[in-house]
Amino acid sequence: MSKDLEPAALDQWYVIESSEDLRSDQPRRTRLLGRPILGERSASGTVTIEERTEEGETLRKLPCLERYGYVWTTLGAPVKPLFDMPEFEEDGRRLVVCGVLTVRTSPGRIVENFLDLSHFPFVHTDILGAEPMTEVTPYKAKLDESSGELWVTECGFYQPQAMAASSGAAQVDYLYRVPQPYAAVLYKSSPGKAGAFDLIGIFPQPLEETLCDVHCFMLVYDDVSSYEGMLQWQQGIFLQDRIILENQRPARLPLDPKAELPSRADTSAIQYRRWLKNLGVEFGVA
Ligand SMILES: [Fe+2]
Repeated sequence: MSKDLEPAALDQWYVIESSEDLRSDQPRRTRLLGRPILGERSASGTVTIEERTEEGETLRKLPCLERYGYVWTTLGAPVKPLFDMPEFEEDGRRLVVCGVLTVRTSPGRIVENFLDLSHFPFVHTDILGAEPMTEVTPYKAKLDESSGELWVTECGFYQPQAMAASSGAAQVDYLYRVPQPYAAVLYKSSPGKAGAFDLIGIFPQPLEETLCDVHCFMLVYDDVSSYEGMLQWQQGIFLQDRIILENQRPARLPLDPKAELPSRADTSAIQYRRWLKNLGVEFGVA
């Protein structure tokens, strides 16, 4: 077995594959927190997940569940059930499973970047932002003590093409939910339903400390876009993020406030790092 891992990393739920891609004829041989993992679906549909040795021998069976279009497991003993997303029960939404993108950085860098509004005009130019509208208006980032989740609220941004279904530029309301250290969901004004929010979520699967498979979904009110069109829109954005993420140094997320001031002096980044430090996260941080 590889090095000891701290409970804060072990006791989270992690996606290892989308439900549609874990087929009975296609096992998933992967890694989680530096350990070999095998996910399999039987012909009758039952999923089993094992932790294995580097030589491919079974070490133990792991907990597994299927939810939100994904297969989840844990290497530890989560104190809480997998976070609830009641939006998945709402009529009229479409789920888009956006596939997996491998990114050579830590899960913390990936989540922090996901929470960062200020990069939109420069990285997602003419899609999620545009010059000269580069100002990030004041917003709130706060740990919700009752749920133990980080919430970033009251965000707004001018976006040329906020979603695949957008017909033009709009001022878009945002909020972010980080239900566990290495999972994040954003809610943004839906162009398909007035007053409602579309969801975009990322579930980084840390293969190693600075190597992740990022699983991404959208849950949207959109009757006009093709599935393929929505997929391409989202994948294009994540490919832009990957270039930025893989150039950040150090790849591990620095938690010592003196080590690196977030370059964007970002409230959400400061709160996120403080939260990871207080939880005792060591995997993938510096
Ligand atoms: Fe981005």
